[in-house]
Amino acid sequence: MPPLTQEVINGNLDKIVPENIYNDTVLPLLQELLAKPGFDPAVKFDFDKHIIFNPATDYEKYKPVMLPEIDIDHPDAISDMAFTLAFPLYSEEAVDTMRYEIFQKDIFRNHSRMANLTKFKGMDVQIAGQIGDTPFTKDAITHPKVMEIFNKLAGLELVYMMPYEVGSINFGIKPVKQVEDEKNNKEYYLAQNAQAFDENSDFVRGWHHDSNSFSLITMLSDTKDMIGGETALKTGDGRILKINNYQKGWASLVHAHCLNHIALKPYCSIERITAVTALRAKDPLHMDPTVLTTIKPSVLHRSLYNEYYPEWMDYRLEIMLEKLKWLREKVQKDKKKGKDFNQIEMINYLEDLSNYTKATWREFEVVDEGKYYQPEKKKFILNWRDVEGSEMSQKIMKFDL
Ligand SMILES: [Fe+2]
Repeated sequence: MPPLTQEVINGNLDKIVPENIYNDTVLPLLQELLAKPGFDPAVKFDFDKHIIFNPATDYEKYKPVMLPEIDIDHPDAISDMAFTLAFPLYSEEAVDTMRYEIFQKDIFRNHSRMANLTKFKGMDVQIAGQIGDTPFTKDAITHPKVMEIFNKLAGLELVYMMPYEVGSINFGIKPVKQVEDEKNNKEYYLAQNAQAFDENSDFVRGWHHDSNSFSLITMLSDTKDMIGGETALKTGDGRILKINNYQKGWASLVHAHCLNHIALKPYCSIERITAVTALRAKDPLHMDPTVLTTIKPSVLHRSLYNEYYPEWMDYRLEIMLEKLKWLREKVQKDKKKGKDFNQIEMINYLEDLSNYTKATWREFEVVDEGKYYQPEKKKFILNWRDVEGSEMSQKIMKFDL
């Protein structure tokens, strides 16, 4: 892992997108939107108008693939759902408004950093932590009726991991000349994309598991001319499946912590802009295997140290508080009911909480650097509500992975 340098602590200031680059690449996109007939930058999010997912037909049409169907049995799985194919989610106006918000100079420059892990070939920028300043995008992703769609697909009630990880943007843009050259060699890129899964595959982001449980990936670019640019994943028996057919405003929901996946490189298209939201189980008593491996500040330039870790701690401490509150109430209620005190059950709860506490700091950079003891990664109880009366009431659980 990269070290926790002073540059990282100071917020990777050297990776800010220079103003002239913003003016040359992003400003024209903003101006194009403003020139679009009927475009209203002040529009408010309206579920009925801006969501094009049709519950009557689309749950069936875009039915999720389940983990057992692709031979994945992962100890960190928070539900059985593996992934959905791309499904229609946002209207043209909704995507335009989200684009308008992120193209604003203050938003773009204050919240973005030049990307390090992705390689788009062109300008590659990541934006995160902007959601408090982009009200339309925030509502478009976190509106309860929108979340309900994700919950139904995931088979579990979800919530965003923390505000910083709502609608983080992968922004790639290429020079027009380069795209023209690619279009002249379209056949070559089509052939390359068809077999782009081996070790030499051409990718934006190589094979990896996400740190968080579920990822919602939304396409904010026109994909009419795009060859590639899809997400591909490996099944338990080594097959490779592609989540293709992303169109502008379409999304897919992926249990990305449990699936080895890759983002393929797009060709023949000037831009590829995606919004990614990290999701976890909403119930604080449900297992939360979220780690920071792929998103911690030393790994991703856009995760700004002094904004990122306070949010991370706020989210983790809230879960710990909720668990403690529930456990305290349970002890009080059981006593009132005259129940025998169950020591074994209590050991399982407290061990689980202790493992969660350790998991909160085990991937801090100071630990990676070997300065401090690294606690082992442990498995968690799937849901605290299921402990009573289960085997865990009679036997101390093995938390080893
Ligand atoms: Fe990913």
